[in-house]
Amino acid sequence: MLKIGVVGCGLQAATIAGYLDLFGDKYEVAAVMDINESGARARLLEKKVNVSDNCCFFADIDSFISAGLPLDGIIIGTYCTSHTEIACKLEQLHIPLYLEKPVAVSLEQIQALDSCFRNSPTPVQVSLPMRLAPLAVRAKQIIDSGKLGRIFQVTGFEDTDGNIYFTTWFRDAEKTGGMFMQKAVHDIDYLLYLSGIEPESVCAMRAKVWHTGDKDYDLSCDVCPDKHTCIHGPEFYFDRKGLFNSFAEAEKFHSGIYAPDGTFLRKRFCAISREIAIEDIGECIIKGKNGAHLVHTQNFIASRAASRRGGRLVGEFGSLEMDFNHGKLTFYSSINTEVENYTVDPGKLSHYGGDRALVKNFLHTMKTGERSSTDLITGQGILSTLVCLCARESADRETFMKISL
Ligand SMILES: NC(=O)c1ccc[n+]([C@@H]2O[C@H](COP(=O)([O-])OP(=O)(O)OC[C@H]3O[C@@H](n4cnc5c(N)ncnc54)[C@H](O)[C@@H]3O)[C@@H](O)[C@H]2O)c1
Repeated sequence: MLKIGVVGCGLQAATIAGYLDLFGDKYEVAAVMDINESGARARLLEKKVNVSDNCCFFADIDSFISAGLPLDGIIIGTYCTSHTEIACKLEQLHIPLYLEKPVAVSLEQIQALDSCFRNSPTPVQVSLPMRLAPLAVRAKQIIDSGKLGRIFQVTGFEDTDGNIYFTTWFRDAEKTGGMFMQKAVHDIDYLLYLSGIEPESVCAMRAKVWHTGDKDYDLSCDVCPDKHTCIHGPEFYFDRKGLFNSFAEAEKFHSGIYAPDGTFLRKRFCAISREIAIEDIGECIIKGKNGAHLVHTQNFIASRAASRRGGRLVGEFGSLEMDFNHGKLTFYSSINTEVENYTVDPGKLSHYGGDRALVKNFLHTMKTGERSSTDLITGQGILSTLVCLCARESADRETFMKISL
């Protein structure tokens, strides 16, 4: 029986904990530390997590550590701001950690994290599912077969609905570090991994151009006078986007988050309030040590049919296009007119099937002590956070940034 600890037991950590029996293993959550105990209990229930009858709940990390409970692994799913501090405190336990991304939200934090774990015996698996998703695994096989030759240019993109980010805690830039850290970190990770580019410098831009307005930060749609006219509001989502069965259903969704059994969990807030400091468009260009370029663009404007996530890797013998949302890979030869299409089944789990591999790897680490392929240090799990931090700094300082710790 694997004994699991959870620090920051929200949606993501409870989801991962609930997956721990997917491969037939027995586990129980034996310790939880969360600043909101009732919220943590509700999430554990919602995600049908196996919780020990004697599970201990702690209100602070020092009591969690000093309790000295015999745990096989600890999942860290706090707000992003606390990832580094919590991980560094838990390092002394030498228990395998599962750390949510981004692993840090400032250059000071990432330096602290690196110096804490660089020579530590504690394995830290970073939650980076994209490079483990079946589509990326197939792309890696194609690249490793030599079909593309050397890769000189990579373009990646994510165009997706911003509603979740602009209406929940993700809108708080202090808690997330902004959208390079929150979203691009995944794509930069798999694009660097597949292309083999070692990042040297980056330039970037970011701006909030569409989620603009003058509403109060804690306004919610149910009490907003513009709920019938606002393009971020419930009527637009019901009447124009066709996403709900009625205005009332759309209004309920836009004003709160509910568990599947209908229990109210927390409020959703106005997507266009003036104080929101995260961006809805962002781009970066990374220069590799080998001279190759990697460009990534993201926006939280395009939705429905306009959503897309993927990229194109251009090599000397051919180009490989990746489309995560449709599970498609296309190879275009630069030698002849050959085009090869691959359809890749992601399977059933979240993050295009990548969470299945993440869970399998963490189970393996807990049972053997061997580090996983997305380990913070040996698996370069730290790298995409570093690149995204430098991209954010570049955008805010309007200057190129060297990528180094
Ligand atoms: N890997 C992925 O693809 C992926 C997907 C979604 C979210 N995430 C990451 O997971 C993390 C959590 O996101 P979520 O959607 O589960 O949010 P959430 O709000 O559902 O959960 C966060 C939990 O952490 C608790 N918490 C916050 N600060 C804490 C602290 N200092 N100590 C203890 N508990 C604390 C909160 O009370 C809450 O229960 C974020 O860092 C996010 O970036 C990763």
